[in-house]
Amino acid sequence: MDKMVIYGGEKLLGDVRISGAKNAALPIIVSSLLTDGWNTFHNIPDLADIRTIKKLLRGLGAEIEGESSVRIRTGEIASCEASYDLVRKMRASILVLGPLLARMGRARVSLPGGCAIGDRPVNLHIKALADLGAEVELRDGYVEAKASRLKGASIYFDIPTVTGTENIMMAACLAKGTTLLKNAAREPEVVNLVEVLNGMGAKISGAGTDMIIIEGVDSLHPVETTVIPDRIEAGTFMIAAGITGGNVKVSGCDPSHLDALINKLRDTGMEITIGDGGIRVKGNKEITNVDIKTLPYPGFPTDLQAQMMAFMSVGMGSSVITETVFEKRFMHASELKRMGADIQIKGNIALIRGVLKLKGAQVMATDLRASASLILAGLAAEGKTELSRVYHIDRGYQQIEKKLSALGANIKRVVNTQAEGI
Ligand code: UD1
Repeated sequence: MDKMVIYGGEKLLGDVRISGAKNAALPIIVSSLLTDGWNTFHNIPDLADIRTIKKLLRGLGAEIEGESSVRIRTGEIASCEASYDLVRKMRASILVLGPLLARMGRARVSLPGGCAIGDRPVNLHIKALADLGAEVELRDGYVEAKASRLKGASIYFDIPTVTGTENIMMAACLAKGTTLLKNAAREPEVVNLVEVLNGMGAKISGAGTDMIIIEGVDSLHPVETTVIPDRIEAGTFMIAAGITGGNVKVSGCDPSHLDALINKLRDTGMEITIGDGGIRVKGNKEITNVDIKTLPYPGFPTDLQAQMMAFMSVGMGSSVITETVFEKRFMHASELKRMGADIQIKGNIALIRGVLKLKGAQVMATDLRASASLILAGLAAEGKTELSRVYHIDRGYQQIEKKLSALGANIKRVVNTQAEGI
């Protein structure tokens, strides 16, 4: 297994370019199942999760070409089943449920099972498909759904679920009649998917609000489109500049997607300038601690909570971080403590007292964003940090060690776990 070896203490300086958004690219690639012609998607990031979704789609009969620009056609659907092997690897595989049902009238998709950041059920996806008139059964760990044609309905999500909103939008755009999605997710990735679906001929309005209206159409046609930049990757590099006291231009991102983070980073004392195709972030020697509460968009993203915890660990005061989206998402805290962080966890609340300096240690990645937080901690720590299980980071960050090295970080991937140092 690969590991990352980091020698901390270098200030990050320079310009980093942000890749396409993983969480937008995944549903957009899946949406190709709704048409039978060649779709072209640009700005697709080179990530393990993208390879997983391509493998899943190939298994369903898709022809796929290209890497950063991907062409996909599913002339005929060869199978309506997503196996446990693939869904277990990546929960977002559940996204094929809605499109398969809409196009083929049936789908069999494995339940994702538990994961490191909590139970993450898919009950809201299933209930909404039933509201659209599908017969849905849970059998042998699989969701089995069928419907000759889905019917528009008024659907209320108890919680604004991101992939749930995406799944049901894809199902409803080929349904008969109009669907209302109430308490829908407002994330930029949902908006990007709506742009793609409307480009295919769907009739969806209200994207970016909590009420999405979908007028069903009889068929959709292929589309050519570009995926939005990854706001979580951008945010991670902004926090990296802060934790190292650096000066970094984060290029090619969309600052309007990052309001919640920009606001918090300014409160820590960082200088942030927007313009010229990106965001310039300058770290401050003295870091003021801030409190954070994660919320659905446009609130502070849970996907940047772990990185902020690392940052707040080296602040001047103390912070309270409240995780309201995934209540068990604090696995990184115990690893940060191994590096000298002072963190106490009670339920979904973390109290962090700044220690001014972290110390390099051997730590283990437990999930995607936890691994990003440990890399940031390693960049700021004294001495050597060794991060194992880096396959987690490869799911969602394109060449993170190369991008960080180009900014002056002392970080290297070691393929052979026996190898020592850099
Ligand atoms: C997506 C993102 C993930 C991000 C998360 C929250 C993708 C591929 N992943 O995940 O990176 O951290 O949004 O911003 O886009 N819930 C239920 N029942 C359901 C569905 C969700 O109770 O059927 C709960 C979840 O347990 C969680 C909350 O709703 O507490 C929000 O989860 P959700 O928005 O669905 O997350 P994902 O779409 O899985």
